[in-house]
Amino acid sequence: MFDSAEKERYFSKPAERITGTDDTPEKSLFRMTESGVYFREHRIRTGHAGDPVEIAQITDVHFNYCDAIDLANPELAYTKECRKWLADAQSVKGIRNAMGFAKFADQIVITGDTLDYLSHGAMELTKQYIWDAEPSAILCIGGHELTRQMQTGRPNETTLESRYADLQREWKHDVRYVSRVIRDRVLVIAMDNDCGRYDSVQLDKLTADLAMARERGLVVLLFQHEPLDTGRPEDECCPTLWECDGKSYNFRRCIGSPERNDSDTAKAVYRLITKSADVIRGIYCGHLHSAYYTEIPAGDAVIPQYVLEGNPYNGQAGHVMRILVE
Ligand SMILES: [Fe+2]
Repeated sequence: MFDSAEKERYFSKPAERITGTDDTPEKSLFRMTESGVYFREHRIRTGHAGDPVEIAQITDVHFNYCDAIDLANPELAYTKECRKWLADAQSVKGIRNAMGFAKFADQIVITGDTLDYLSHGAMELTKQYIWDAEPSAILCIGGHELTRQMQTGRPNETTLESRYADLQREWKHDVRYVSRVIRDRVLVIAMDNDCGRYDSVQLDKLTADLAMARERGLVVLLFQHEPLDTGRPEDECCPTLWECDGKSYNFRRCIGSPERNDSDTAKAVYRLITKSADVIRGIYCGHLHSAYYTEIPAGDAVIPQYVLEGNPYNGQAGHVMRILVE
């Protein structure tokens, strides 16, 4: 738990604006001048008089590391030969920087691809630099946690079910679904949705949690690896928020899109979310490695959907989304 005077000192240090204006907060990116950590902010106003509830999101850390245990496994030894991006634990620097900023939040959520591939070495780095530092941190999983193959051109040697079981044995919480009430005001929900694979247990838990949030007047913040379809024609070519990287993404082919072959359960989860704008005030994702802002039409309202930059970029400076429920 952080010291509030320490937090005040940290945030009284100068930060420079990199992109956006006061009129476009959803497009704004800042950088702490001293520590170099990049951050975005989403402020949700509820009219509550007390201190804001603060949630910090980090995403796509991609720990790429094989230790001696991994190298005794020929499958992982070959992946180590083939996968060079961020090899030999380069992401340690970035996560230390990001956690130095995020530790002042009431809750930290990491939205998937913390591991670059499923290795003992990457799992140990996750424990050391994330859970040992902040034991309450919630980690959604992405696609990378579920594979031992990376740029090898080979299929996994084990079943997906067995890899889920291997991951679950090491994970501090349910890999598929976590929900937690923060200071009796915010309900954080974190779901595994890699490739749109929602299941009926997740659907049931989400249904119950949204009903509970309505009853208790909680603000729901939803965290998952992959973004959702927006259904808006203009989002077929949605530009990244950091104009200089020149990328765009098609948000009409994401989970929930009629163009996709998602399961009936995934469609039901999508319908439930888009009928719940009265309680869900934000969706926060990763996966794309670049930042985007979209809005998902939900009845008469919209749900803001933020995709955050991958943490390793800009020389492992650290990238954090700061969500303030005021
Ligand atoms: Fe990723």
